[in-house]
Amino acid sequence: MTFQHPSFGQIADDRIIIFDTTLRDGEQSPGFSMNLEEKVRMAHALSALGVDVMEAGFPVASKDDFESVRRIADEVRGSVVCGLARSGGKRDIEACGDALKGAERPRIHNFISTSPLHMKYKLRMEPETVLDIIASGNQKARQFTDDVEWSAEDGSRTEPDFLCRCVEVAIRNGATTINIPDTVGFATPEEMRRIFAMLRERVPGADQVIFSTHNHNDLGLGVANTLAAVEGGARQIECTINGIGERAGNAALEEIVMALRTRHDQYGKVTGIDTPRLLGVSRMLATITGFDVQPNKAIVGRNAFAHESGIHQDGVLKNAATYEIMTPESVGWNKSSLVMGKHSGRAAFRDKLAQLGYAALPDEALNAAFARFKDLADSKKVVFDDDIRALVDDESRDHERIQLVSLELASGTKQKAHAKLEISVDGATQYAAISGNGPVDAAFRAIGEAFPHTAELALFSVANVTEGTDAQARTTVRLQENGKLVDGQGADADTVVSAVRAYLHALNKLLTKRERTEPEELV
Ligand code: KIV
Ligand code: ZN
Repeated sequence: MTFQHPSFGQIADDRIIIFDTTLRDGEQSPGFSMNLEEKVRMAHALSALGVDVMEAGFPVASKDDFESVRRIADEVRGSVVCGLARSGGKRDIEACGDALKGAERPRIHNFISTSPLHMKYKLRMEPETVLDIIASGNQKARQFTDDVEWSAEDGSRTEPDFLCRCVEVAIRNGATTINIPDTVGFATPEEMRRIFAMLRERVPGADQVIFSTHNHNDLGLGVANTLAAVEGGARQIECTINGIGERAGNAALEEIVMALRTRHDQYGKVTGIDTPRLLGVSRMLATITGFDVQPNKAIVGRNAFAHESGIHQDGVLKNAATYEIMTPESVGWNKSSLVMGKHSGRAAFRDKLAQLGYAALPDEALNAAFARFKDLADSKKVVFDDDIRALVDDESRDHERIQLVSLELASGTKQKAHAKLEISVDGATQYAAISGNGPVDAAFRAIGEAFPHTAELALFSVANVTEGTDAQARTTVRLQENGKLVDGQGADADTVVSAVRAYLHALNKLLTKRERTEPEELV
């Protein structure tokens, strides 16, 4: 079958479209919210990775979501940029259309629930009303772009005849991609395969659209369900970097892409992903969110290519294929992670950033990061890739409302810890000087004095970015306010400075979150 897609033209039969939703579904995971600059940075990295479509956000949800979709649409080239909208939301589709105005290839993704459970309890709507909304939502979206995706939320638990009717209505009213999500991660692989085979067989016009699969990981079946859906005829895969997403997450992009590639004999499909960039993008996301992947995570976990047992090591030395089904280099693991030192110049630093996926860093941010790199290189013999990631990430927060200006600490066995802090809040300087139960406590109390707030500290953790006593500390601070959780990250060779940066990062996120529409208003 050949098919003329509004954004991709003719798509080869064996080509799978990778739709990344790290910035939308992924960002919905508790504590994973990203600020505008972080989202834009991720978006550039995703485009360089070769994702065909990136879902940049849910524009109607908040001013911040709108702005990040708008910035990404204006700046990012290469990938289709997509915004999410409720099919029946009052302003959703217009907000998407507005936010996507600057996109090279815009897509509007509209959705409504179709399962009996969701229609009855969540939407409180009759099936006929849902069908009307599907029709009007897709027609409205087509007024803004020819590239329209429609999703049947809770599609895998939808009654099959009704699902066929919904899909038929969506196609007749202008949808060009039909997505069937396993919203609650309940389906089995065989069920997912059958749903797509059924829709392709039964729905009139099915050969004129791309079918898409979107799987949550509640039973750990996200990737298996995705691959089964491909066997049933899905041509677009929705997934996230590191598998982040609501609850147990979404199917992981890196696992799906490498499964398709490594088992081409089985699936016969290809993607446009530049696989050696996978590790870099995974690390970038972990640095931004402060959530590392577990060591045994497939493809990007630090043990994914580590061979511990003597028998395995011996086999790999004789022939790597004995215990390695793909090469570490094919997903971005280098034999040596090139180190930088105090003699490395600006050009080498810029090259290094490009290698790490930070090619689109504005000059100002690059200069500031370079200055901090030089400071770090003076105090630390070798600077590793992870040091640079942590540092760039930290430095690119200079547009945030609350900024650290200076911190002085006195502590030790002979005196009570004391912190003197200077921060700027919307450009105005605030000072505080206070004692505490140790330097971190004193510094956090000083933040509370300089910027009074009601958020409570819910988590505080410190890890070292690399090995050695001169390593940078990477701190995560989780704050909680009225049921809202945010995580902030900070990095610095000084552990308390890194903690203060993390606290301020979290506070800044909280300020943004306060402006967000409550989820219950977004059913
Ligand atoms: O899981 C889901 O159903 C979704 C839809 C909005 C596509 O994320
Ligand atoms: Zn989802």
